[in-house]
Amino acid sequence: MIKGFIFDLDGVITDTAELHFEAWKKLSDEMGWHFDRELNEKLRGISRMDSIKVIMDHNHVTLTDDAVVELATKKNNIYVASLDTMTPNDYLPGAKELLTHLRQEGFLVALGSASKNAIKVLQQLNATHFFDVIGDGNSVAKSKPAPDIFLYASEKLKLQPGNCVVFEDAEKGIDAAIAGGFHSVGIGPEERVGHAEVRFNSMKEATFFEVKSFFSDFF
Ligand code: G6P
Ligand code: MG
Repeated sequence: MIKGFIFDLDGVITDTAELHFEAWKKLSDEMGWHFDRELNEKLRGISRMDSIKVIMDHNHVTLTDDAVVELATKKNNIYVASLDTMTPNDYLPGAKELLTHLRQEGFLVALGSASKNAIKVLQQLNATHFFDVIGDGNSVAKSKPAPDIFLYASEKLKLQPGNCVVFEDAEKGIDAAIAGGFHSVGIGPEERVGHAEVRFNSMKEATFFEVKSFFSDFF
């Protein structure tokens, strides 16, 4: 029986990938590192520290731990400043409608994001009230593809993983949902989230009606 829904944030509720890209690009330009949209795709869903390691490995760069933290903080300051431009008009099409519908139908709803800035993003969108539980980058130590953030959310909702559906746009996010024993909905192309239980190209197609039809045996 499905009783709860756990949403990733970036790429599911809102599209922060572009803002992350611009911030990493600015840092990389300053450092003389190569960084492009293809590499940015590899950062989808993974933590800030894992992200900088991916960029440094790509550029064959090694630095002390302190220097890496300093650079990741620099990127974060650029990113956080750019979040000030985000408004309640910046939901991905369909996301607000689905959240509204799920609440009306009495489902429990949680956030399961790798971002340490998730609360700020939710505040900018005026979306905090949709969530019974907020799991973010500060909630658990191990980030996706480990299932920990989704397990944290389901525990706080007092639900078993098998009673929850995870919405994710990242390959590693779907890996995490599967590893935790959750139902999964992939948002995006087959090559990225084709391993989800069901996949939609965008949140606009993931309507309550479509989701309910797919999981009808579990309602
Ligand atoms: C999300 C994004 C990633 C980002 C991560 C950490 O999962 O998809 O691209 O690296 O959050 O975000 P943060 O706001 O903590 O740097
Ligand atoms: Mg995401």
